[in-house]
Amino acid sequence: MKVCVLGASGGIGRWVVQLAHQKGWDVTAVVRPSSDYIAPAGVQLIRGEVTEASFVQTLIDEHSTIISCIGIRRAGLSPWAKIKSPSNLVETVTKNILNATREKDLQFMWISAAGVGGTASNCSPLIRKMITLGNIGVAYQDLERSEQLLNQSHFKVTTVRPVTLIPGNPTGGAQPSSTYHLLSTVRRSDVALWMVRNIEQNEQPIFVS
Ligand SMILES: NC(=O)c1ccc[n+]([C@@H]2O[C@H](COP(=O)([O-])OP(=O)(O)OC[C@H]3O[C@@H](n4cnc5c(N)ncnc54)[C@H](OP(=O)(O)O)[C@@H]3O)[C@@H](O)[C@H]2O)c1
Repeated sequence: MKVCVLGASGGIGRWVVQLAHQKGWDVTAVVRPSSDYIAPAGVQLIRGEVTEASFVQTLIDEHSTIISCIGIRRAGLSPWAKIKSPSNLVETVTKNILNATREKDLQFMWISAAGVGGTASNCSPLIRKMITLGNIGVAYQDLERSEQLLNQSHFKVTTVRPVTLIPGNPTGGAQPSSTYHLLSTVRRSDVALWMVRNIEQNEQPIFVS
């Protein structure tokens, strides 16, 4: 399996790279030019701006499986913490991928969030409120627009919608779930493990928890 991981420097992205590499896959890790990310030995590292269409085109030309772990960064945990990424980051990357694949088949797996894409009804009232607040709301709107764009795609898309992410080593405990409440959590590493295990199955989980 040859796979290209966008957002390889992120909390989930790092685990995806590591776990895919451990499986013996041919992994390309993609990070921003300014990133200090160090790829595991044996992983190809490419630096570039995924917000630029021409750069994404070169990645798609070389790969037929893409895993995107890209998401808006905030300066802190508060919903009102400043955002450190463009407010339409995931939407822009999604458009670039759609444009680059007009004449190509693609296997695409990406990270959205629990509560997006019609799954708000699976969330408790407190979570429904939380995901509209401040810059959390901005990030959720970006994911919502991206899901809408991908609904019209012609290639295979697996949308992963995790509940609240926490740190820790993988346990294998990530499973699809139908509810998201204040205490619902999932380890970033377990989301990554689920993604690597399910890349070829085209499942469409609502949540992973
Ligand atoms: N936090 C939660 O509880 C939660 C719950 C459900 C879903 N999610 C979604 O899951 C995603 C992944 O989670 P995570 O913890 O792995 O996130 P993360 O650690 O913040 O990683 C975000 C990734 O996106 C990249 N990125 C940000 N701005 C960029 C830009 N302008 N250009 C290129 N790359 C950029 C980052 O690169 P740099 O390292 O260079 O900044 C990093 O690789 C989140 O972004 C969010 O959308 C989060």
